[in-house]
Amino acid sequence: MMSDRKIQNTLDEIVNTLEFMKTLGVAGVDCSSDILEVVKSWDRKPATEGQTLASVQQAYQDCRRCALSKNRSAIVFGEGDPHADLVFVGEAPGEQEDLQGRPFVGPAGELLTKIISAMKLTRESVYICNIVKCRPPSNRNPLPIEIESCSPILKRQIDLIRPKVICALGGFAARTLLSTDNSITMLRGRFHRYQGIRLMPTYHPAHLLRHPEKKRDVWEDIKKIMAELGATP
Ligand code: URA
Repeated sequence: MMSDRKIQNTLDEIVNTLEFMKTLGVAGVDCSSDILEVVKSWDRKPATEGQTLASVQQAYQDCRRCALSKNRSAIVFGEGDPHADLVFVGEAPGEQEDLQGRPFVGPAGELLTKIISAMKLTRESVYICNIVKCRPPSNRNPLPIEIESCSPILKRQIDLIRPKVICALGGFAARTLLSTDNSITMLRGRFHRYQGIRLMPTYHPAHLLRHPEKKRDVWEDIKKIMAELGATP
């Protein structure tokens, strides 16, 4: 029998594919907004009753689900408005984040903060978190087992916030949330769906620090998010 998660992923894939076909102008398949709304509504589940972000954070405060717990200084749960319309999801905490217990407070975080300001928003008005909540040693990429162990926390955070838009920062966040192996270059620039929520993948701010020429692409993606949220650049 198919698990809830597999059914969910399949539904997300159907919607992503239909929306992609719609952008290509494919005829012969009913990609009308009405049909898409019907498909999207299949996967809507209410957030877990009685839980809040604070209670989830409390439940995982001494998490030992994976080996990253051994060397961490602090769990970087996430921060911002629990009712935010926009959630940014990064990869994993770095050195500064591990020391301060806050997401995106190092050099990549400075750039993310500038992007948020350019959207005429503040860090307090959005929600910022990561796929993995503890720092991988020497900032190596998170391992599949670490992503897998941590993903129930992220899933719960998103279930509780139910934002209008998720911005996945970088390939790890985008591939994890969309259950795909595709590269960030292939995924970015158009909306996908995660649990019925519109999701825009874009390059990670740390990647922009190494490749400033990609800032233009990120701004294009961000403008699409702003339009979706009813804001103008
Ligand atoms: N990079 C991330 O992906 N997340 C952080 O919190 C900091 C750097």
